[in-house]
Amino acid sequence: MSQVAGKTSAIWLAKTFQISKEGKMGLNVIIGTQWGDEGKGRIVDMLSSDASIVARYNGGDNAGHTVNVGNQTFKLHLIPSGIVHPHTLGLLGSGMVINPLALLDEIASLQQLGVDISPRRLIISPGAHLITPAHRLLDKAQDESRGKDAIGTTMRGIGPAYVDKAARRGLRTSDILDADVFAAKVTAHFEDVSRTLRLLYNRPGLEVKDMAEEYVTKTLALAPYIHDITLLLRESLAKGETILAEGAQGVLLDLDHGTYPFVTSSSTSAHGVFSGLGIGVQSVSKVIGVTKAFQTRVGSGPFPTELSGSMAERLRGSGSNPWDEFGTTTGRPRRVGWLDGVLLRYAVAINGITELCVTKLDILSGLKDINVCNFYYVKGEKHSYPPDGLEASKMALYEPLYEVLPGWEEDISRMHTWDELPLNAQKYIQRIEEISGIPVTYISVGPEREQTIKR
Ligand code: GDP
Ligand code: IMO
Ligand code: MG
Repeated sequence: MSQVAGKTSAIWLAKTFQISKEGKMGLNVIIGTQWGDEGKGRIVDMLSSDASIVARYNGGDNAGHTVNVGNQTFKLHLIPSGIVHPHTLGLLGSGMVINPLALLDEIASLQQLGVDISPRRLIISPGAHLITPAHRLLDKAQDESRGKDAIGTTMRGIGPAYVDKAARRGLRTSDILDADVFAAKVTAHFEDVSRTLRLLYNRPGLEVKDMAEEYVTKTLALAPYIHDITLLLRESLAKGETILAEGAQGVLLDLDHGTYPFVTSSSTSAHGVFSGLGIGVQSVSKVIGVTKAFQTRVGSGPFPTELSGSMAERLRGSGSNPWDEFGTTTGRPRRVGWLDGVLLRYAVAINGITELCVTKLDILSGLKDINVCNFYYVKGEKHSYPPDGLEASKMALYEPLYEVLPGWEEDISRMHTWDELPLNAQKYIQRIEEISGIPVTYISVGPEREQTIKR
């Protein structure tokens, strides 16, 4: 990593600015347009062949991103999916909340699969926040206390860690760099949560000393990975390299723009990139939205196009295939439904999405008819845009209006070109383009790296 100082810095900044003015900078943001699990991991993997840096900017190990290469399956929770390509550098941005124990496990399991993970290939921002086992216990106690209004969180401690961040009492990765100060902060944090669990949630307190000691000892192993990432990003952009920002979750789970309160606690939208990586808005070249050919959701909250019965079972799958709709992180069956064009239009609008990648088109093969929701209907009126704030109570009043498109019989999972696709599959994609108002540039027809059609 180079350090920029004095005169060099001024020249370097001028060069960077010049490049940005010419519009050559290459930060491509990849986000899910739905409630997560759209297949972002496999799209990031595919796009990583041309990227030098792949960076996560939000969330933590609530994410589960799957990449299939040959007979190997990589399940990534914290480390960017692009790491599977040996030439990339992976960054974990300051917008993330990182469970160090989960990260160390993930590093070990990737190393076992032959992926080189070392401080040369993976850098953690000093501004990222830490998740502790106490945060996880608090997440569980809080969601259980909500009773029938439970969010159905992943219980990874995400919400409580972001609460500590906002309350300005969080533990940051930079704290690891001074072992004594870190130990004192961790102990104070465990004591604090222990009190909360006992007094507010009527749960057993924590074995603070033992828990803190174990946590600190293990976490210190991450110290060599911690380094500023902002200069690195700007240098890379100045050189004209391509950087991918890998969003976790999806737009509809965004803390500000999702189906609040049934959301996660981070900025899952493209907007999260700027604060989550420390980079300027002018750096962005493309905002790539990943959209599943139908809609899924794990956990509670509004889902206007949700299906039940045999069609739901058909879209979800029985669990016998690895790509069936059961959570990568929690194993929970996902709720499923038809593609919601109203929410897709919303996702495109609020993020400035420039293109779409449609995944899992192969799952629709064999259906006689395919429904797509293009409008909501309420009190005798048609709406092409969702209600303000995606309020759960308002969403419940809106009824989806469907267009019925003809399906196709053919197995498309071995097709590699647009022209090979059955006419009705092409028409389905074209209808998605019309509804969203932007082009579909990639279509995936199976979980493997090669099962992708470039438009
Ligand atoms: P992410 O969280 O957005 O990265 O998505 P997940 O990895 O949680 O879930 C997507 C699942 O669908 C994974 O099991 C992928 O391997 C699988 N998948 C992705 N694209 C396709 C596709 O085009 N067809 C099929 N059949 N499976 C896919
Ligand atoms: P990827 O990156 C799908 C959902 C949870 C819950 C809500 C809040 O794999 O797409 P949290 O633990 O974040 O406080 O839970 O958000 N959720 C996800 N759903 N995919 C994800 O990530 C998710 N991460 C969180 O199910 O409803
Ligand atoms: Mg996932």
